[in-house]
Amino acid sequence: MSHYGVEPADKPKALTSQAIKALRHEEVKGISRRRLLRTTIGAGFGLWLLEVTAGTLSFLWPNLEGGFGGKVSVGTFDTLKNQNAALPFSEGYPVYVQEARAFIMLVDPTRPEFSVGEDSTGDGTALNVRALYQRCPHLGCKPNPCIKTYWLECACHGSRFDRVGTKADGIGPAARGMDRFALQVDDDGLLTLDTGKITLGAPPIALGQPGIEAPRAATGCI
Ligand code: FES
Repeated sequence: MSHYGVEPADKPKALTSQAIKALRHEEVKGISRRRLLRTTIGAGFGLWLLEVTAGTLSFLWPNLEGGFGGKVSVGTFDTLKNQNAALPFSEGYPVYVQEARAFIMLVDPTRPEFSVGEDSTGDGTALNVRALYQRCPHLGCKPNPCIKTYWLECACHGSRFDRVGTKADGIGPAARGMDRFALQVDDDGLLTLDTGKITLGAPPIALGQPGIEAPRAATGCI
């Protein structure tokens, strides 16, 4: 109690029902808890929607842009040969094209050229070129071409494929050869892969049987 009999300015008043009602309708200074909660939930939902939209767009973008998932022009025979000058591409060695995630090779290396045409099965014999999807059919590792054997060797579990992707029966766990992309060679010799159209690789063939090329050396690279 004050010695001078002065009442404190903010002396609490009795909370009558009328006072409570007035407080409820009174404009809250700053931001109310309810509004803060609504704003936070709204912002969270907005962020989630943005992420979903961005993810969907980035998934579809390659198709729209002609990247992996759609048609990819990889160049003519000479373009690939010049881009891989250190590798014997014209002798049938598989070369890698990152943009298409594919290994590309001549089917018949005695004819160092592509032939005009289209092949939706990806076999490529008529066009004299084949394009293999980079994923090993076992568990998806990327096999590497071996310069000694010309074969593709999967380092993960030891599957071996000849240079055109035929699986060597009994060597490694892959159940089929490497998968192939549909392809087309136009009148100017330009090779285009349809990376959205994949044909599964053929069943394995035992070494020494027709349909699989023998390795060019007794030992591989791995
Ligand atoms: S992923 Fe290639 S052999 Fe297993």
